[in-house]
Amino acid sequence: SDCPVIAIDGPTASGKGTVAALVAANLGYQYLDSGAIYRVLAVAVAKLGLNPEIPANLLQIIAMAANLPVQFQADQVLLGGEDVSDAIRTEVAGVMASRLAVVPEVRNGLLQRQRDFRQMPGLVADGRDMGSVVFPDSVLKVFLTASAQVRAERRVKQIEARGQKADFQIIYNDLVARDKRDSERAVAPLKPCDDALVLDCSNMPIDQVVATIQNWARERI
Ligand code: C5P
Repeated sequence: SDCPVIAIDGPTASGKGTVAALVAANLGYQYLDSGAIYRVLAVAVAKLGLNPEIPANLLQIIAMAANLPVQFQADQVLLGGEDVSDAIRTEVAGVMASRLAVVPEVRNGLLQRQRDFRQMPGLVADGRDMGSVVFPDSVLKVFLTASAQVRAERRVKQIEARGQKADFQIIYNDLVARDKRDSERAVAPLKPCDDALVLDCSNMPIDQVVATIQNWARERI
């Protein structure tokens, strides 16, 4: 495809979602939040009370993945027409998404849905395996990371900004556990691919991260 893709991968709460959305807006590109697709599936699974550890349920989940009725609108994520924008952002949805993400058939089922976002004039895609699996021909692959301490602090601020209470130690432990699960799984483990540029943004303001990525993009597109 001639349609350029900028892949931004990295661990949870590295800021890649915010950064990817800003880069996409600045370049006038499409934006794919691939984690949101895993999270929508998680919400669909929870709604039906399915347990991925039960083989018959898992088969049903795999079938759902390939036909997930998800729609992304301006500021809304819809599942079968229902607004699930808030439901997908809960910790419970994140943990379920990460459990489903270890299943290769689930990942395959969600592949085409993600590739459909590749439309002119270009795409910025954020996730774990954008550069390695979903868009291996990306013109630019960034692995955006930050220390677990900084990511947990950011997550706490996000939760408190929503007027909810957050316990740093619980958030930190959950984040480290999810990193471990994401990086140790056999399929599409979370790690920079060989041709990725690694950017540690622990001590960088957002606008500097955005500018760095756009400078790299300018050299390639
Ligand atoms: O990025 P986010 O936290 O929204 O993703 C939720 C979960 O979905 C991640 O913890 C990860 O397990 C999974 N995921 C994935 N591959 C992606 C995006 C998300 O495995 N490209």
